[in-house]
Amino acid sequence: MVKYKELEGKNIVLGVTGGIAAFKAADIISRLKKQGASVKAVMTKNALNFIHPLTLETLSGNPVYHDTFEHRANAWEIDHISLAKWADVMLIAPATANIISKVRCGIADDLLSTVIMATIKDVLFAPAMNTNMLYNPIVQENISYLSQKGYGFISSKSGMLACGDFGDGKLADVDDIVGHLARHFENREGMNGINVMVTAGPTREYLDPVRFISNPSSGKMGYAIAKECADRGAKVDLITGPTNIEPPENVNIYKVNTAKEMYERALELYPNCDIVFKSAAVGDYGVERVEENKIKKSDETLELVLVRNPDILKELGRQKRKQILVGFAAETENIEQNALKKLKDKNLDFIFVNDIKRAGAGFEGDTNAGILFTKEGDKMEFAIQEKSGLAGSIVDVVLKQI
Ligand code: PMT
Repeated sequence: MVKYKELEGKNIVLGVTGGIAAFKAADIISRLKKQGASVKAVMTKNALNFIHPLTLETLSGNPVYHDTFEHRANAWEIDHISLAKWADVMLIAPATANIISKVRCGIADDLLSTVIMATIKDVLFAPAMNTNMLYNPIVQENISYLSQKGYGFISSKSGMLACGDFGDGKLADVDDIVGHLARHFENREGMNGINVMVTAGPTREYLDPVRFISNPSSGKMGYAIAKECADRGAKVDLITGPTNIEPPENVNIYKVNTAKEMYERALELYPNCDIVFKSAAVGDYGVERVEENKIKKSDETLELVLVRNPDILKELGRQKRKQILVGFAAETENIEQNALKKLKDKNLDFIFVNDIKRAGAGFEGDTNAGILFTKEGDKMEFAIQEKSGLAGSIVDVVLKQI
């Protein structure tokens, strides 16, 4: 068993909602207790159909709460307020579409939803539901809304679901849930003294002063990683192509346009870097001859000669000394093979590959999904989630390497 000192002595309110994965609440409690945490479980009415409160009561060594108006010995205490105050963090596992959607709407019509509304501590949801429910646009929008409001999500995983379907929506492994909670309590200064370089956004390959070849990268993925590292105390250099989004605070911004400009800036900053996240979508080709003045149209066809741009990441891989290199790959076919080839060819430590044909993944949107490969051959899959949450998970994995 991995021992997390961060969980020692912590008070955790575990919300259990009505899904088949409710039985895993027993395992979650047992593991958290072994880590030295105290757990109080709050069950919804529907959860009571899936697991008996006595099991959770026995494992937690605390009363299990499910009735807002239950008359307890210490009747002067108002449960939803005392639980909300007692918690260092709230974990909702499994979290159904119902509880997520209720919280998004501010509904507090039973004990659990009332405690969630009343707490000022962080609330983490570990969703578990059928794939179609998970990807119902309403549920996705609610997850996205709650993420923006600061609620945390521990992504579900892919596999055979209780209904017999195969897909995303399985409750995350209990080990992952416990690890996620531990990291939640980790010192937010955990990246103090670490120098990070992030590249984000598209590059522009100019034909003339007003026309260029580019791609739809918004910069959201790279900015989310830069923010995550800066929030953890790292010194962050963000080299960004043109974007329309607000850059995160507390990062050094270096604006570039072309792949060549990004190349020069990246190589200049590289010697002092500890970790590089190369999430920019760099143009592989530039125009051989950039016209000084706007190209006048004529009736004839216009032929452009494109020449290869420098491969920035490959050069960083070649010059690598102490640095950890995290590449990104935007793929449309042979996803895994292509990503693994880039991992090897560019001398990377990690590569995150997103299938950009997949809805909810890749360019522009607020969400992404994909697979993170390590050079040791490990493979971690991440279901569709907010780019901010995904950034946290990728950074977590990379930090274990240091
Ligand atoms: O910005 P968003 O809208 O949030 O979208 C996020 C994203 C889809 C852009 C991001 O998740 C992503 O996949 N980024 C990498 C896109 C890409 O250029 O992939 P690639 O497979 O072409 O390149 C592989 C790696 O080599 C990348 O790390 C890239 O930065 C790097 N590269 C590529 C070409 C080049 N000339 N120099 C490079 O450094």
